Amino acid sequence: MKPQPHFSLASLNTMGMPAYAAWYVPVDSQKTLKEVLDLKLHPKVFVLSGGSNMLLTQDIDALVLHVAIRGIEIIHESEDEVVLKVGAGETWHDLVMHCVHNNWGGLENLALIPGYVGAAPIQNIGAYGVEQKDCFVRCGAYALTDGRERIFDREGCQFGYRDSIFKGEVRDQYMIGWVEYRLTKKNHALHLSYGAISQVLEQNQIHAPSIADVADAVQSIRRSKLPDPKILGNAGSFFKNPVIPAQQAAELNAQYPDLPIYEASTGWKKIPAGWLIEQAGYKGFRRNNCGVYDKQALVLVNHGGATGAEMWALAQEIQAAVWEKFGVEITPEVPIF
Ligand code: EPU
Repeated sequence: MKPQPHFSLASLNTMGMPAYAAWYVPVDSQKTLKEVLDLKLHPKVFVLSGGSNMLLTQDIDALVLHVAIRGIEIIHESEDEVVLKVGAGETWHDLVMHCVHNNWGGLENLALIPGYVGAAPIQNIGAYGVEQKDCFVRCGAYALTDGRERIFDREGCQFGYRDSIFKGEVRDQYMIGWVEYRLTKKNHALHLSYGAISQVLEQNQIHAPSIADVADAVQSIRRSKLPDPKILGNAGSFFKNPVIPAQQAAELNAQYPDLPIYEASTGWKKIPAGWLIEQAGYKGFRRNNCGVYDKQALVLVNHGGATGAEMWALAQEIQAAVWEKFGVEITPEVPIF
């Protein structure tokens, strides 16, 4: 695992943005991390995981550490549950399918989410009524100064909607090395109420779904709405769904009766950014090589050859259009570099 200078990251980010790392090295263990940090190749370090939730608008003038820590092991098992310790560099979807095949329940609604396991706690990935925090036990994070391990339990992670301590107080200070998840072996608590899951199960005449049935339904819904990054560069939802005061939501609802509104904390409501963007006229919009996906307006796509700067300009234009039409601020879910 020799560090390499001036290394292209174009194939390592799912938006396919052209950018170079000043230095690049895959990191397959805590030991490798310590050795690489000791070399002091660059004053700045940057952790690259699956590259599926980022927009690169420029070269990364840093030592880029590419998470490559593998392994899935059972560290605790009883009649009812199993606790897995998973290397941060495992592919998230492979972990989900590994659990589904073993009939371990909890993560099935999170099938097909792109990216690596180590990134899951950082933005507390979620879909179809489940967030990774629901099964999370703890994770081990290595300090980017000296590689020393610090353990964060569920409370310590301060999980919120697409949020955690790794995006706040300790931002850019750690590389997550491993994550532990607790899964059920029987009496699985299925989450079927969100979105089209129950509809898809009904269509397929599945009345007593297994976790494999739920994972299948989630995959078919995602495939129908979200572009495959291998075919069309994208980073999933580009913006977060905005949380606005309940009063403002009621006013918008009076003007736009079709506006979907979801519960948030007391006095607040969450509304779908995809709906706002579609109503602002941007669904399926394309300028040069950048665009808005035609089946889900929350996803920005690279039709081939787009630059990060162009993509960011389009994102800002969409933000401004939504603000102008609805007086609602939508902010990127995807970190911009
Ligand atoms: N909508 C539109 N037009 C669009 C897109 C959505 O009107 O172009 C409306 C839908 O009709 C629906 C509502 O907005 O009433 C919500 O849409 P959807 O169920 O597709 O989910 P979302 O809120 O757009 C969120 C997550 C996704 C996750 C889905 C399903 C965020 C930022 N996004 O999207 O997560 O898969 O729910 O749980 O919270 C991601 O984070 O990268 C991601 C894909």
